[in-house]
Amino acid sequence: MVKRNACVFISGYGSNLKSLILKSRDYTFPINISLVICNNKNANGILYAKKNSIPYFLVNTKNKNFEEDILRKIKNYKISIICLAGFMKIISKKFIRNFRKRIINIHPSLLPKYKGLKTFERVLFDKEKKTGCTVHFVTEKLDSGKTIVQKTFFIERNDDIKSLKEKTQKLEHKAFSEALIKIFRNY
Ligand code: GRF
Repeated sequence: MVKRNACVFISGYGSNLKSLILKSRDYTFPINISLVICNNKNANGILYAKKNSIPYFLVNTKNKNFEEDILRKIKNYKISIICLAGFMKIISKKFIRNFRKRIINIHPSLLPKYKGLKTFERVLFDKEKKTGCTVHFVTEKLDSGKTIVQKTFFIERNDDIKSLKEKTQKLEHKAFSEALIKIFRNY
């Protein structure tokens, strides 16, 4: 099986990156992580790239040409797919058009509900019965591209922001790899 090269964009803890790195060790998993892009030099996720000898590129998203810097870098690695895994910067329409290949994102809610930030707070405030996560294609409209995988769980009475985050992230790790398998098996 020929593996595709994936690039993972992160800004923080990197638990999704870590899980994808582990999954990609399996020869049947459709991608290799060839590059990590990070816009936070203190991000814990960089440690996972370092530990696994994955090249990483620190980008300054305050610099107005940062997307061109990323595109240039990505070209060198023949990247077939970008996985946004907690990248705290909205990428532009121009970037999406110029990259031309697939970009996917993981979002901590059951889209189309709760687009944007502070999803757990809003889910609790609205007394939702269930929540979960969504892996979707990135399009020019925020958190609105086609869903690839969605996973759901029921909210318990004693759940709070912390427990919802933990439960959601556990599901995210499964959803992300399932989405990649789905995409590369003729989704
Ligand atoms: C995830 O919960 C994801 O839903 C959101 O950002 C978080 C990143 O977590 N987009 P991590 O850095 O992968 O641990």
